[in-house]
Amino acid sequence: TPRVFSGIKPSGGLTLGNYLGAIKRWVDMQGPAFETIYCVVDLHAITVWQDPATLADATREVAAGMLASGIDPAKSILFNQAQVPAHAELAWLFNCVARLGWMNRMTQFKDKAGKNAEKASLGLYAYPSLMAADILVYHATHVPVGEDQKQHVELTRDIAAKFNHDYGEAFFPLTEPVIEGPAMRVMNLRDGSKKMSKSGDSDMERINMTDDADTIAKKFKKARTDPEPLPGEVAGLADRPEAKNLVDIYAALSDTTAEAVLRDHAGAGWGTFKPALAELAVEKLAPISDEMKRLMAAPDEIDAILAKGAERAEAIANPILERTFDLMGFVRSR
Ligand code: TYM
Repeated sequence: TPRVFSGIKPSGGLTLGNYLGAIKRWVDMQGPAFETIYCVVDLHAITVWQDPATLADATREVAAGMLASGIDPAKSILFNQAQVPAHAELAWLFNCVARLGWMNRMTQFKDKAGKNAEKASLGLYAYPSLMAADILVYHATHVPVGEDQKQHVELTRDIAAKFNHDYGEAFFPLTEPVIEGPAMRVMNLRDGSKKMSKSGDSDMERINMTDDADTIAKKFKKARTDPEPLPGEVAGLADRPEAKNLVDIYAALSDTTAEAVLRDHAGAGWGTFKPALAELAVEKLAPISDEMKRLMAAPDEIDAILAKGAERAEAIANPILERTFDLMGFVRSR
């Protein structure tokens, strides 16, 4: 069976972007068609400063969000990266396969490092190599992610191809990114040219998975839009990024397409559409946030799930890592 791997950084609370672009789709991929492995990538989080006093809670919150959304430990392996050393070990080997020129093309590094790249951590630069290791240490074939991660998955393919070429065997698969659906790039509610992110400046620009009903309603009400009513067809959303974003969110939350949403709401003004969107979002998110709160009050329950998941993950990763060392010619006699 094809194998799915994907991950989320515990670098702040989960947003609606994480849910629609990633977690909701991970839930849907569980089942007989795929073997599914989902990871809280704490080693990636520390590429920018994380307070040791809050990293564990952030890790548990992301795990709680995944569980509350329907990631089922009976169907998927769920664990945090720091409990499976094979990720970091393979990442080192990949640091010696990947080329500086490839890393230099990564747009996420440029965005995150900002103008003063000299002050960025070496880990932030090497980030995509660890991500490739996350995926390839399981020989994962499919990686469901939002649009912003596409370049990293493509780099993963480059690393796999170069390794296979250099060490003379088609050992690592060429992994496919899975980027499908209406909400692969959920935008900032106050600025339709920026993506919604965990770490944006203002809380009003994002919906957090733990926001209550009033907060969700207020954020959609204040979301930036243009004065035009909703068009009848998707073509009418071109050059209207804020309008398009709200329609796409509506479509993703209701498991339909932007076309279908516009068919139902053509001609509606924002005074009608925004409250309908808020109501839909509350209906879908409230049960998740209630369950997240319950789980976060039971950290032992979360830790036990992550520990069990790490054990199962290791059973797959360790033999693949061992074979990699072997192909590269290392002495590993114990
Ligand atoms: P991270 O933690 O930034 O985001 C987790 C997932 O959420 C998606 N996402 C979005 N999708 C749509 N709209 C948005 N506004 C939005 N914001 C976030 C991301 O695309 C991602 O799928 N590098 C990864 C974590 C990672 C990983 C991996 C992913 C590490 N190793 C291996 C897949 C496979 C990241 O920073 O995601």
